[in-house]
Amino acid sequence: MSNPAPAPALRDPATLRVLISADRIHQRIAEIGQQIDEDLVGDGPIYLIGILKGSFIFMADLARAIRRSARIEFMGVSSYGRGKSSSGEVRVLKDLDVSIAGADVIIVEDIVDSGITLTYLKSLLETRQPRSLRIATLLDKPERRLRPVEVDYVGFQIPDEFVVGYGLDFAEDYRNLKEVCVLE
Ligand code: IMP
Ligand code: MG
Repeated sequence: MSNPAPAPALRDPATLRVLISADRIHQRIAEIGQQIDEDLVGDGPIYLIGILKGSFIFMADLARAIRRSARIEFMGVSSYGRGKSSSGEVRVLKDLDVSIAGADVIIVEDIVDSGITLTYLKSLLETRQPRSLRIATLLDKPERRLRPVEVDYVGFQIPDEFVVGYGLDFAEDYRNLKEVCVLE
């Protein structure tokens, strides 16, 4: 059996530049959680639907920033392959195994780039008749948008640079960085 290629050093200053510190991320997520509690008053749980894998850390922090009862679900989609730019087509790799009919639902994304993934997911989930359907994303790269998509909660707007960390990867590496970093 061959050894896997070694992962790049997580804190190599030559390739990683901190764009958003862990403190700023946590502060902003607390604000978003409060906003969600103000916006979504009602009974029954909120369904948080994390899009694998990039949203997993944001999901964990956002869920704990919301006071109203939340249920945690995940969907897997692919639009990117292993490169840095979208292939333009979205495939559902893992669907929900619960009904969201009549529920308040928030799609939890790591980043909105072209908008292709969220445009597709939003129309897919709308057909399942939730009571409300919103989108929360940690990051937004508005310059890269190819499909307009209405995002309800945005952590940070960032310039058109490829970022990693806090769940986001490049070819599966860097997800466990505490900060959002630019990969140069
Ligand atoms: P979209 O469909 O182009 O909006 O792509 C969204 C998905 O592309 C995100 O959920 C990420 O998985 C990935 N992506 C886009 N930009 C970046 C980036 O800068 N770093 C890491 N992943 C990214
Ligand atoms: Mg993603």
